[in-house]
Amino acid sequence: MPQQQQKETQQNIRVVSGIRPTGDLHLGNYFGAIQNFLYLQEKHTCFFFIADWHALTTHPRPAELGYATQRTLQLYLACGLDPQKATIYIQSHVPEIAELYLYLNMIAYLGELERCPTFKEKVRLQPDNVNAGLLTYPVLMAADILIHRAQYVPVGKDQLPHLELARDYARRFNHLYETDLFPEPQPYTFQGEPIKVPGLDGSPKMSKTGSSEKGVIFLTDPPEVIRQKVKRAVTDSGPQYPGQPMSEPVQNLFTLLELVSSPETVNYFREQYQSCKIRYAELKHQLAEDIIRLLTPIQERLKELEANPKQLQAIAYEGATRARTSARETLQRVREAIQIGLKGETPPPVPEPLTL
Ligand code: TRP
Repeated sequence: MPQQQQKETQQNIRVVSGIRPTGDLHLGNYFGAIQNFLYLQEKHTCFFFIADWHALTTHPRPAELGYATQRTLQLYLACGLDPQKATIYIQSHVPEIAELYLYLNMIAYLGELERCPTFKEKVRLQPDNVNAGLLTYPVLMAADILIHRAQYVPVGKDQLPHLELARDYARRFNHLYETDLFPEPQPYTFQGEPIKVPGLDGSPKMSKTGSSEKGVIFLTDPPEVIRQKVKRAVTDSGPQYPGQPMSEPVQNLFTLLELVSSPETVNYFREQYQSCKIRYAELKHQLAEDIIRLLTPIQERLKELEANPKQLQAIAYEGATRARTSARETLQRVREAIQIGLKGETPPPVPEPLTL
């Protein structure tokens, strides 16, 4: 295929991914998810959204949900998600998703939803709140994906069972309504091993849940806080003989260094370690400064966005408009396939958008 044509084909590939509104993002989120989105927005037609409806399954307090939605959007933009390159929106701004969710619920079966590992986990975690939304979480997620007829979905391993269901629903819908409307969405996998971001407290994964927040670097941490946290990172008493294998906490520091520092810096400290000359204080100082170098421009953009709530609203509005255009096209074809409503009808006029 000629190069230009190949490029166009790549650009036509539709990618969807949802982000749970968690509020304060950390380095684990940055290297685990955000960097992938930055790469994908350069290559494909991307739809990235904040999954605020999904968040309701755990009954967040309204003020928390409101804060987390805004914060997550600000942070993704500050990290370089670009509304010129990708369609960035808030799920609840696109009511077409809820309608598709309704249709998909008719072809989703109770048994398969109950068997879903994430559902079983939630039942264990919140036995007093096993609501129907929790059960049909994967159906809503399938609606998010199918509403744009996406071919690829970049997600972590924990989401693969949900994606499997989305593929089942696409196939079932096509079969039941004798159409080829929905492609079967594939997980988007990156070459090589998925990036693992360890914590500073010796834990294998930087994460807000579980271990304490001391091992976590938030994208919003000011330089002094970063220096403090890195200084207090767990190490050991140093290698006793050349070539001694690294303990896990030290290995973790090197993993972080590899993510934020230059190859020369990493090599320098590796050699120091090998020859038993390493000074962990020096390594930590370098690590902290390189993290600060990565986060400074992000924090500067974040400040601009914070100072400019109208701009954030305009971005969200524009994103929702584009997402709805794509969503309405799919929904029109869904309605035709099902023959719901009256034939040849024009959809009722759209009233003024809801305001918050
Ligand atoms: N369930 C996903 C998560 O917890 C978030 C999500 C919602 C999503 N809808 C999606 C991811 C659609 C990909 C595609 O991370």
